[in-house]
Amino acid sequence: MDLTRLIDRLIVLMTTALYPGTFDPVTNGHLDVLSRAAQLFDQVIVAVSGENSAKQTAFDTKTRVTLVRENLSLHDNVTVEPFDGLLVDYAREKKARVLVRGLRAVSDFEYEFQMAQMNRHLDSELETIFLMPNEKYFYTSSQLIKQVHLFGNRETELVPQNVLLALRELSNEKKGSRRDLS
Ligand code: PNS
Repeated sequence: MDLTRLIDRLIVLMTTALYPGTFDPVTNGHLDVLSRAAQLFDQVIVAVSGENSAKQTAFDTKTRVTLVRENLSLHDNVTVEPFDGLLVDYAREKKARVLVRGLRAVSDFEYEFQMAQMNRHLDSELETIFLMPNEKYFYTSSQLIKQVHLFGNRETELVPQNVLLALRELSNEKKGSRRDLS
């Protein structure tokens, strides 16, 4: 068997997992789930949604990708990519058989359950698994972190350093534009 075919076969045997999300911005809770996934799978692709997230984002896609990418020094089997379109199509393109999602509290369940069932309906071979972050991140969400940083003068240590700086910058920009309006 020539080398190219051997490599193709090895890629098929490897279990690739996608860790999809909006990551607006990535938090220490996301990074905790990512480390767990990186230990379980041969290859993990963090799939950062583009225009296909239901949410309006504070950071553009490129920034959200960069903020995750800058926190991967501990993992040599993790890559980060933006994706558009349906998640199931992207998973097929990447030959990923598993979707990883973080589950914190019962309140996450309904949303996650609906998404997992819809993805299974669209591709019955794609399996969704849920990983729980360390309990210290059970109440960490990108949404709440943005509120704390952008609507008040408070900061949290629930995000990595690069995200802290990005949030500070965004908060200053917002304060500047409010001053311009007054
Ligand atoms: O971090 P989030 O915002 O909960 O992630 C949601 C995300 C990006 C995984 C979801 O919106 C998604 O998969 N978007 C791609 C479009 C798609 O496939 N939608 C159907 C999923 S049921």
